[in-house]
Amino acid sequence: MRAEITPPKKLEGAVLPPPDKSISHRAAILNTFASGQATVTNFSPGADCASTVRCLRALGVTIELDAKAPGTMVVNGLGPHGLHEPTRVLDAGNSGTTMRLLTGLLASQPFLSILTGDRSLRSRPMGRIVKPLTLMGAEILGRQGNTMAPLAIKGNSLRGIDYSLPVSSAQLKSALILAGLSAQGDTRLHQPAASRDHTERMIRAMGADLKEDGLFLTIRPSALRAVDVYVPGDISAAAFWLVAACCHPKARVRIEGIGINPYRTGILDALLSMGAKVAFSDRRDEGGEPVADLTVESSGLKATEICGEMIPRIIDEIPVLAVAACFAQGTTVIRDAQELRVKESDRIKTTLQELSKMGAKIEELPDGMIIQGTGFLKGASCRSHGDHRMAMTLGIAGLLAQGETTVEGAEATSVSYPSFWQDLENLCQR
Ligand code: S3P
Repeated sequence: MRAEITPPKKLEGAVLPPPDKSISHRAAILNTFASGQATVTNFSPGADCASTVRCLRALGVTIELDAKAPGTMVVNGLGPHGLHEPTRVLDAGNSGTTMRLLTGLLASQPFLSILTGDRSLRSRPMGRIVKPLTLMGAEILGRQGNTMAPLAIKGNSLRGIDYSLPVSSAQLKSALILAGLSAQGDTRLHQPAASRDHTERMIRAMGADLKEDGLFLTIRPSALRAVDVYVPGDISAAAFWLVAACCHPKARVRIEGIGINPYRTGILDALLSMGAKVAFSDRRDEGGEPVADLTVESSGLKATEICGEMIPRIIDEIPVLAVAACFAQGTTVIRDAQELRVKESDRIKTTLQELSKMGAKIEELPDGMIIQGTGFLKGASCRSHGDHRMAMTLGIAGLLAQGETTVEGAEATSVSYPSFWQDLENLCQR
């Protein structure tokens, strides 16, 4: 599908971002591994979370969708010993979270599972989970010396390990936490920098024995009991409207019900430090996660520098931050973000390639980029590279550019935000 975007006179209105993708995956996976029944409300309608549900069903769990209330589903937990050997290959589609978390779950299961994904997912690094799970006792084979999917997982009785994560990755951390719940002895993890803690919050609510001491986590073998989860709005999706409204000269947008977990709010911190006009209202707690409504207005942005421990808190939002940097006064520098190279696309390359077509002044760094704020982009013919966040980033760039922008492969948004193009049109006052 090709999206055609022209800049509106005004950006105005309210938008309800889609349910958080990270929390939705965890609500389905952790409740499957728990005992009892749980209702998950506001579950993500995106293709990634549908991949998780499909894989879990193939492992024997009954997940009932409520036809009258879209986004509501009941998960009938199987407990740690109730999963069945799947009769077919499990397909995680485009979803890294599905593949990495399920590998952690399957590492302790006494049967064979084979996990694959689409072309993008089959090229992403899996050695980071295979290595520690193998140290815990699982047998995992994969392409390219066990570093790439398809993965064949023969689960075993696991033993806890002491392990320093080579990258700050919530998917890796969560895979090891899931394995640690069924291992003998303690699993001690040391993170190089803090990453999103949705797994930790959810399993604690489910009764797990988990201790946190700074960047150290200790997981003891625990049985989980199912808990109902209300999934808040996805800040990674809201980020597109935050940037659009800050950079458009006539904008006022209200974004409702956004999860503001402190490990996810790097984009808010970055934009606020650049001078964004964002008002928070009705801060509340929903299902163990902090939530708020935000109102954002046209703002004169200044350049910023993003690096170090901030990176895991903003990783998925860096492509759209690059658009904001094009409209900020001064030079924005993004470093320490080499993980961008192994996302759904190499997001340093794809951001650079596509925004350059629109006249952006961006220089590539091995671990980031340098962006000159010129206050101007021009419409161009762009491509999503099959990457949902690139499609949406280019949609926002198109709203702010002069002339028409087309985005080829616009359907990629369905991975996390199926109503993105509709929401974009609804906010545009022509
Ligand atoms: C996610 C963790 C991050 C993030 C991804 C979702 C998660 O990936 O980029 O979109 O749900 O745990 P990494 O763990 O690879 O950093």
